[in-house]
Amino acid sequence: MTDQPKYDGGLVAYGIDTASPSVARVYDYFLGGKDNYEADRELYRQIMKVAPEAPEWARANRRWLKEVITWLAEERGVRRFIDAGSGLPTAENTHQIAQGVNVESLVVYVDNDPSVVAHGRALLLDNDRTQFVAADLTKPDEVLAEQPIADLLSAGEPVALVMALMLHHIADYDETLAVARQYVEALPPGSFLAITHACNPGDGGAVDELVTELQEKVKHAFPTLAFRSVEQISSLFGEMEILEPGVVRLVDWHVPGGRLDEEPEPDVRDAIYGGVAEKR
Ligand SMILES: C[S@@+](CC[C@H](N)C(=O)[O-])C[C@H]1O[C@@H](n2cnc3c(N)ncnc32)[C@H](O)[C@@H]1O
Repeated sequence: MTDQPKYDGGLVAYGIDTASPSVARVYDYFLGGKDNYEADRELYRQIMKVAPEAPEWARANRRWLKEVITWLAEERGVRRFIDAGSGLPTAENTHQIAQGVNVESLVVYVDNDPSVVAHGRALLLDNDRTQFVAADLTKPDEVLAEQPIADLLSAGEPVALVMALMLHHIADYDETLAVARQYVEALPPGSFLAITHACNPGDGGAVDELVTELQEKVKHAFPTLAFRSVEQISSLFGEMEILEPGVVRLVDWHVPGGRLDEEPEPDVRDAIYGGVAEKR
């Protein structure tokens, strides 16, 4: 990958639709980003009315990402990463975290939002161990055939596939399961899959009520957004071994072998769950 020119293939996405909110731009706005338009900010305001803790969900998710990538690179020696549904570049991106541990780390980003692709490619121009693929992740056959992805997987070395806050953008559960399974099958033995996902515990409690109202509020803008049960999220790992502490609220997640200092309290971040699994 390192002696190759920057990849500019994949889905050709001309033009950025500024009239409709984009998942990537609204999420980036929650993180304090600047690449947004009035349509994104209007949806942000609507979400904040229902879930004023939403920016904390985004921050907790980025903290989790940093912890997971650092652990995989430092403790498990992973040097190959695919960040699928990467979002707009923010303060600490996957390649910066992974290469901060090992400069040799190779990272391929994938996203289908034209703003993300443009900003991502610009950021990576002078980093010769990264590539950006513009592709629709719901089409694993096409994604896996993209040269940077095929190259990364073909060495047979363990790869960490990160799908953070991405799989819940596929509305149909069976389709989500089938998509995840195809990526899991393509991973070499010793690989890892790390997922965060919007969760509805489905117990009629406070979080259930909150996410039901939230989903109603955003359904015109993001009609495919699906909050799923912990069981459904866990099933996305297929036959892989889910590592401790399992698929849990992000606030409860800790690196395998680590431990929480205290009993977890109910927390506003209850609606986002995450887990990491290993392919033996
Ligand atoms: C909420 S952002 C999450 C960004 C980042 N992974 C994180 O967790 O901080 C979701 C990202 O997934 C991307 N995405 C959603 N569906 C996608 C698809 N079918 N193919 C490629 N990217 C997709 C969006 O464009 C967006 O950038």
